[in-house]
Amino acid sequence: MKVMAIVLAAGQGKRMKSKLYKVLHPVCGKPMVGHVLDAVREAEAGRTVVVVGHGAEAVKSYLGDAAEYVLQEQQLGTGHAVRQAEALLGAEEGTTIVICGDTPLVQASTIKSMLELHASSGAAATVLTASFDNPTGYGRVIRGEDGTVQRIVEQKDCSPEEAAVKEINTGTYCFDNKKLFEALAKVTSNNAQGEYYLTDVIGIFRASGESVQGYCTEDLAEAIGVNDRIALSEAERFMRERINRKHLLNGVTLIDPASTYIEAGVQIGPDTTIYPGTVLSGSTVIGEDCVIGPQADIADSKLGSSVSVKYSTVAQSEIGDDCSVGPYANLRPNSKLGTGCKIGDFVELKNASLDDGSKVSHLSYVGDAIVGKDVNIGCGAITVNYDGYNKSVTEIGDHAFVGSNVNLIAPVKIGDGAYVVAGSTVTQDVPAGDLAIARERQVNKPGYAEKIRGRAKAKKEKQQQ
Ligand code: UD1
Ligand code: CA
Repeated sequence: MKVMAIVLAAGQGKRMKSKLYKVLHPVCGKPMVGHVLDAVREAEAGRTVVVVGHGAEAVKSYLGDAAEYVLQEQQLGTGHAVRQAEALLGAEEGTTIVICGDTPLVQASTIKSMLELHASSGAAATVLTASFDNPTGYGRVIRGEDGTVQRIVEQKDCSPEEAAVKEINTGTYCFDNKKLFEALAKVTSNNAQGEYYLTDVIGIFRASGESVQGYCTEDLAEAIGVNDRIALSEAERFMRERINRKHLLNGVTLIDPASTYIEAGVQIGPDTTIYPGTVLSGSTVIGEDCVIGPQADIADSKLGSSVSVKYSTVAQSEIGDDCSVGPYANLRPNSKLGTGCKIGDFVELKNASLDDGSKVSHLSYVGDAIVGKDVNIGCGAITVNYDGYNKSVTEIGDHAFVGSNVNLIAPVKIGDGAYVVAGSTVTQDVPAGDLAIARERQVNKPGYAEKIRGRAKAKKEKQQQ
């Protein structure tokens, strides 16, 4: 059976009250229309046509060549939208899935089951339905005594009896392709909203003696159509639960799934444990046996195995195996750690690479730096990389030791095995193996402490008089 798909994505989504076009609103980090296209592709649809209108260029540039496009210049309704695809698909024989770009939770497995029912029943159309306790806002599915679908009535056109029906139209269907476009030509805009409803095709089929099946999904989340931000937040919650379940089944421990936020594109290896308050986003990939969180915020980053990240943020960075990060570290974009590195509390890294075994344990800023293997950067040491206009690079060789509270004024190079003593402000390169000391020599004044206390005490007593 040849299967095609039409995705409706031309609406503006007024009820979202947003500058962003509705179908581009992300659910768990991926635009809704992206989720829909994934499902359609996984259900093995061949030619896929996306109907674009509002934000056409933005939708096309997001989806790229994953689909063909037709433009619906005026949004005259879902029936009108589907009709725009006739120029591309009208001549094809086969089955066409029609799905809305604002129903991100529809699953490929459900579409496949619907396609099977459609094929075996010989119906002209099959509608994906769900049964809602509160069906407000959705089209109602009116079934006949034989259980087949007679028609779909939009909320605004419902009689009181129809409004009481709990079975709703999810907005996903499959159609006999030829019959779909024949029936669409007969749809009028004679209804409460003055729109050409795709749903009227069902009644048109019945009137011409065709049969229409309903496939009711048990998973109510699938039926969510996102028209406003309340529905968006519900879709986010259901999608998050679905993503978390997938990771749990793959062998990842989530201490508290309800407070763990993992976006759709994230990959996590088995035997990794995620503590509460953790947000993993974008293209993040995490290896095996890691301990992440509590309160880790990791975006677009790649972590090896046996890595620990606690109370820290990591963005667009790479962390090798056996590293430990945090608590309270901030890895800004383009930070790169080799194997077995340690980044401790209140350390900020930016555009800095540390080779295997290097440590920055406390209170440091390392920016625009290339750090070798087994380097120790002491407490409070910083790279001074910015003069108000230019960024400069600090290079530190293998096995070097940078003492506490050192300022490395970039551009500067510390050679392999060099030693920079605590409190130094380094403005010149330090050759390999040398010791650099750049601070005032200490002076002790014997017995002077008592003298200075006496002076301070006298001053205070004078003020109190
Ligand atoms: C539609 C269905 C309703 C169903 C609900 C499920 C119709 C008439 N109604 O209602 O039965 O219960 O979805 O979520 O079909 N679109 C276009 N061009 C248009 C109009 C809409 O591309 O001219 C697109 C929108 O971008 C959206 C989708 O079609 O992705 C659905 O449109 P929307 O206005 O949200 O329809 P609903 O009122 O939700
Ligand atoms: Ca909708």
